[in-house]
Amino acid sequence: MKGIVLAGGTGSRLFPLTKITNKHLLPVYDKPMIYYPIETLVDAGIQDIMIVTGGESAGDFLRLLGNGREFGLKGLSYTYQEKAGGIAEALGLAEHFAEEDKVVVFLGDNIIEGSIRKAVEDFKVQKEGAKIFLKEVPNPEEYGVPEIVGGRIVRIEEKPPHPKSRYAVIGIYMYDSQVFDIIKTLKPSARGELEITDVNNVYIDSGQMRYEVLDGWWADAGESIDALLRANNLIAGKKRGSSL
Ligand code: G1P
Repeated sequence: MKGIVLAGGTGSRLFPLTKITNKHLLPVYDKPMIYYPIETLVDAGIQDIMIVTGGESAGDFLRLLGNGREFGLKGLSYTYQEKAGGIAEALGLAEHFAEEDKVVVFLGDNIIEGSIRKAVEDFKVQKEGAKIFLKEVPNPEEYGVPEIVGGRIVRIEEKPPHPKSRYAVIGIYMYDSQVFDIIKTLKPSARGELEITDVNNVYIDSGQMRYEVLDGWWADAGESIDALLRANNLIAGKKRGSSL
């Protein structure tokens, strides 16, 4: 299985912190933000990782992460998104890297407390399809929100004004190789982007989507200044806890 970390975008919600750099390079407690998703993938046994980024700071990722040795990787791959065309468009750029393998896609600003090792192991033996993680949140209208009927997700709505559940779809997605064909069928949304929620709805419609509710905390560190502050505090708490 391969890992893909999406680290493009304009970071406009964190302006002016992101005026001269990419949001995934900002500090979260004692490390740059992008370290956390990479470490979670490595912990889950993923050894082949591609970083998809864009914009003027793209070269800084290479300077920061180099060949990935610091993370125990044999090597790191990179590709460049020429314009901010959405999460699904960014993922589409990794098709040649995936080589028909299953992929774990990680949004570079998503940080979790625990491990996805077990979920990745389970997905390796899942015959086909996709798997997502949900987390109950106080503000689901800021995220992709699942409608769940009889224990099954029947639809995901992107940032709905009237959410149909209290869950957010978090930014860690597992897909089989069908994902790249699905992306080619997508049309841009009202915000002009290829939406990952549209990809997930295709899997739902074909009955191939599974989900898990994530244990431990989840932070979408790039969502707002307050979310970034919260992520810093959560990591600080985790570090202090483990050093006691
Ligand atoms: C994206 C997805 C959304 C998901 C969120 C998780 O939103 O579109 O479905 O819930 O990531 O971080 P964005 O943060 O790009 O607006």
